[in-house]
Order: sequence, then structure tokens, then C-alpha cells
Amino acid sequence: MHPLAHGPQNPITATTKMLDRALSSRRVTSHLDDSDTDASADDSKTKKQNLSLLASNYLSRLSHFCFCPTASFLLCLLLALVLITSLAFHSRSFVCVSDHGSRVGFFGLDGLDSDFGLLGVPWCRSKHGKTVQWTSKDLLKGLEEFVPVYETRPIKNNMYGMGFDHSFGLWFIAKWLKPVLMIESGVFKGHSTWVLRQAMPDTPIISLSPRHPGKYLKKGPAYVAGNCTYFAGKDFVDFGNVDWKSMMKKHGITDISRVLIFFDDHQNELKRVKQALNAGFRHLVFEDNYDTGTGDHYSLRQICDQSYIRGGGHSCFRDGDEARVRSKRKLFWEKAVDIHELCGPNEAWWGVKGWMRDNFNHSNKPISYAEHFQNSRFIESTLDVYWELPPVAGPSLTHQTRYDPARASSPIVEDGRYGLFQRLGLGRLEASVFNGYTQMVYIEISERES
Ligand SMILES: C[S@@+](CC[C@H](N)C(=O)[O-])C[C@H]1O[C@@H](n2cnc3c(N)ncnc32)[C@H](O)[C@@H]1O
Repeated sequence: MHPLAHGPQNPITATTKMLDRALSSRRVTSHLDDSDTDASADDSKTKKQNLSLLASNYLSRLSHFCFCPTASFLLCLLLALVLITSLAFHSRSFVCVSDHGSRVGFFGLDGLDSDFGLLGVPWCRSKHGKTVQWTSKDLLKGLEEFVPVYETRPIKNNMYGMGFDHSFGLWFIAKWLKPVLMIESGVFKGHSTWVLRQAMPDTPIISLSPRHPGKYLKKGPAYVAGNCTYFAGKDFVDFGNVDWKSMMKKHGITDISRVLIFFDDHQNELKRVKQALNAGFRHLVFEDNYDTGTGDHYSLRQICDQSYIRGGGHSCFRDGDEARVRSKRKLFWEKAVDIHELCGPNEAWWGVKGWMRDNFNHSNKPISYAEHFQNSRFIESTLDVYWELPPVAGPSLTHQTRYDPARASSPIVEDGRYGLFQRLGLGRLEASVFNGYTQMVYIEISERES
């Protein structure tokens, strides 16, 4: 990766490899900024914990270890005893990084976190296989720093906006890249503007949103940033219609490759990548990188869900293995997608049942498989880096019941790392803030090579 600017002055140290990809799904119910609930009405960011799902999750997890209804009861009892002893031992340990070695940890078995990535975690290939410079250690260090910052957020209940995972991801990426300008498309009450401001206190921001966040102040908390140019309300302009060349000139930006764009506007991401590429931007973050079969706009995750990628391409055979696993997942995870939700007429599984959604699901177009395939080739031809933020912590710690770990990469703090979870301060946060994970993605793009 070519960060916008980082180095010795960066508080988070650099090295090499990376935690990979992640998962899930959210749903939006309304459109433009015309009401309190606003365009961002994404219920997956808001729902409280589903107790029955939580309970069944734990039971199902236990069944991983004790699935012996006909086998000896005593054996189960013995196993349970070993598990409890092991939990007591491991919960006191402070172990870092979610690397492969640490995964062996829980109960000494391929335990609670073992279903992460079970159904595969599709990702977009980059031109030269480059990845980000930050490591899982950097992410852990960042988490430690970010939790107390997050606790001071002005908008405590950001229903329909970002939760903890993505707030952390955006803060971390902005802080790491140190952009000279940050552009945000999709503001709502201003929580993400606040996150950007915490990461870069003195960097100018340009915010685009149909409704000015100040409008929400009449009804409750909202955030309006200083050193921020708002194109909102009657001044609203869509990202695709801004004359970015003259805007950059106006802001004194001479190197456009040092600008960071954050999209949380629920628009077709293929369209946004093309617009950003045309303007010469290189660093983009998409908040809602919906998994195949979910969401209100065509996402990078959907685009790169192709049969040549692990976890990509799907079988619509109702009695097949994928259908069986998916229907089981659906029992435990609210946003898991079963085969009926995944597959439309003529076995169209790409996008959402063969549709390329756009603009909060208000503008949709059916696409052929060939078109979907071409879209991924186009995206791959522009990508220098593709990095999905992993979930911050496993569901046994956060108690989230929404996203299905089977389509997510291993979390930064893995299941079983209770001591670490507490040390980082994550245990102080309300469980509902962990519910909105939809594999936020950071990409670096550049002109296609001929
Ligand atoms: C999910 S909300 C943003 C949440 C915000 N980033 C946060 O974390 O709190 C989506 C926002 O996008 C706005 N929006 C709708 N169409 C848009 C467009 N074409 N360009 C920019 N924003 C748009 C909506 O009005 C809404 O405020």
C-alpha cells in the first residue's frame, strides 16, 4: 500500500502482513434525508440483542463439543468439566493478536471461533497482490487507544448510522493514512464526521449529504464539525456531480493521491469507484460492503463474489451442501442468508438475486452473470489494495447475533480472549454497538494498466 502519509510520526507502528477479510449484512428501509430516520435506516445497526438467538448460539456452540445424544452421558459431563476448567484458565490470560497460533487457544480445540469463514470470505484481488502495511498488532494497539475516544462520542445512540466496529475501522484508517483532506459522502447526524475529526483534528473535511446534520440538533444530539465544508441541504451535490478538479484547487490540494474518501451513502459501489477513479482519487473506504444476497446497493464484496475466489460463486441446488449449511446458520444468525434468499429466478445468486441494487434499493437493475463477471474484472483492474476490516471481537464476547461469522474473517479479538476484551475496555461498551458490522472495506485504486 502507498499510504497517504505515514512513518515515524505515526503513533501506530508499521510492519507487514494483514488480517484479511470479513462479512455480513444490513438492511435499509428508507431513502433521502427527509425524516428523523433518514436514508440510513439500516436496522442492522440498531437492533438490540436477540436473546433467543443468543441462547441458541451458545447451545449450538456447546453442541460442537458435546453432540452426543446417544453416546455416553458421562463422557459429555467429563467434556463439559474440561471445557469449564479450560475457560477459567484462558479467560485470565492476556494474549494479543489474532494470528494463527493464537487460534489454537480456546479449550485447546478448534473451538468457539472455528466457524469464522466457514462459508468462505470472498475478496477482491488486487493488481499486484499488494496489501496494507498495518498488522493485527497495530489494530489491537489502535483498539486500546480508540475505546476511550469512542466513549466520548456525542451521539450515543447512532441508530441507522455506524456502530463500534466501523467507527474504529474508519478512525484507524484515517489516522494511519494521514490524509491532507477527507471527503465524506453520507453524513446523517454527523457521527462519522466526528470519527474523522477524532482521527485527524486539523485536517479539512468536505461533507456531502442531502440533509445538513445541524438539522438533527433540534431533536437530539448531532455533530457539526469545524473546518468542514458542507454540501448539504439546499447546497447538496452528489459526489458524482462535483467538479473535483476545481474543488481541489479551491482547497489548495496539489496531490490528490493524499485525499481520503469515505462513502456511507448507500450508492452502487461500482458507480462510486468509477467516479472516484475519473476524478483521480486513490484512497476510498466503503462503510457498507454488503455480502451477496444482502443490502441495498451493489457492493465490492458482491462484485468480487466470483467462482474463482474461495467462498465465491454459489450453488442454488436446494438439497446441496451449501443450502444445508446456510439453513442451519440462519437459525443462529439474524443476517445469515439461506438459499431461498440467495437465489432468484433462474438460479441468479449474484448481487441480490441477480439484481444490481443502487441508491438505498430505490433504483435497481437486473444484470446477467456475464455482466457481473465483467464488473469484477473491471474492479480488479483498478485495485492496488483491497482490505476488509475484520470484526473487532468474536460474538461470544460482544454478544452480537446479527452477522454470520461463517462469512467473516477472524476477529481482531477472538472468541475466548475475554481478558483481552476487558483490558481493551470493550467490555464497557453496550452490546448493541457491536451489531452493525458489514465488512467495511478500504481500497486503493489507480488507473487501469493497458
Ligand atoms: C447510513 S447514513 C450515514 C451515516 C453516517 N455516516 C454515520 O455513521 O452516522 C446515509 C446517509 O447518506 C445520505 N445520502 C442519501 N443519498 C446520498 C447521496 N447521493 N450522497 C450522499 N449522501 C446521501 C442519507 O441522507 C444519510 O444521511
